Amino acid sequence: MAALLEVENLRVDIPLGAGDLHAVRGISFHVDRGETLCIVGESGCGKSLTSLSLMGLLPPKAVRQADKLFFDGIDLTQASQGKMSDIRGNRMAMIFQEPMTSLNPAYTIGNQLEEALLRHQKVSGKEARERAIHLLEKVGITGAASRLGQYPHQLSGGLRQRVMIAMALMCGPELILADEPTTALDVTIQAQILHLMIELQKEFGMGMILITHDLGIVARVADRVAVMYAGQIVESGTVNEVFDNPMHPYTQGLLRCIPVPGKTRRGEPLGSIPGIVPSLIGKIEGCAFANRCRYTFQDCLTTDVPLAETSPGRGYRCLLSDQQCLENAKEVA
Ligand SMILES: Nc1ncnc2c1ncn2[C@@H]1O[C@H](COP(=O)(O)OP(=O)(O)O)[C@@H](O)[C@H]1O
Ligand SMILES: [Mg+2]
Repeated sequence: MAALLEVENLRVDIPLGAGDLHAVRGISFHVDRGETLCIVGESGCGKSLTSLSLMGLLPPKAVRQADKLFFDGIDLTQASQGKMSDIRGNRMAMIFQEPMTSLNPAYTIGNQLEEALLRHQKVSGKEARERAIHLLEKVGITGAASRLGQYPHQLSGGLRQRVMIAMALMCGPELILADEPTTALDVTIQAQILHLMIELQKEFGMGMILITHDLGIVARVADRVAVMYAGQIVESGTVNEVFDNPMHPYTQGLLRCIPVPGKTRRGEPLGSIPGIVPSLIGKIEGCAFANRCRYTFQDCLTTDVPLAETSPGRGYRCLLSDQQCLENAKEVA
């Protein structure tokens, strides 16, 4: 059976005064029904623009191109505005980092939840209300019926995020795109919300793309992982493949930055990868990670690095040999 979402050679360009900013530089991936793909990478790597481009919600100047962009067999590159807004919210829903960007302060929670369903599906007001209450209960909100009359500002950040998850689920979407959905919350609430999302995702059999810069989260929830750097996928594989044998020096660097229970001492500063993501304006010569990589040699600065696929879905973008990468991976463990 074809994948729920198929993406081939997706590009997003933003024309700026200084030249074109190539925010997403030819990425390919797929999401199956019921599975979680985590897209991970530092800030500025093109993760958000990737998800916005799938939803057809890019900023006005941005240009999206793709060799293939199929959702359940529908070619999204050919879909009209009307068709897109039909799919959006109804079959594909997005959860943002900051709930206030998608909750309207002027309307009650009940109003917004019900509207999400009434806009897309032929149901009565009563049915919409019942579903809203059901989902608020599902996301762990007590006294759900009495919450319907409240406004977003009357809720805590954690509750607002739960409401947004409920809103995304109103129409029973097949694919959820969650862009750093817990980053704005404090750590204990983060864990609760993530746990909830994974439970709901399994219960409803949805595909999910979870975007995060936190590899600790990835380890807990991902089926497969795509590591993004400077607008490209530099490594992909199942969560075990990537964590057991991180091949790309960037993935290895990210893994060195996460605390290891029992190994990292309390208060010990975490590692970070020295240097910064290169400018995405214009063409990047050679490997985008070369200026930060501990293994860089001359060819890295001049040679475009192809994605080497070692098996279907498993690949990485580095000029070092498999053998060398495996050796380097041992240093991370
Ligand atoms: N509306 C915009 N106008 C100009 N540049 C943008 C805009 N949105 C994002 N960018 C740039 O595109 C690149 C990728 O951004 P983004 O997808 O938000 O990264 P991430 O989500 O990985 O942090 C960054 O260099 C960012 O500055
Ligand atoms: Mg982002």
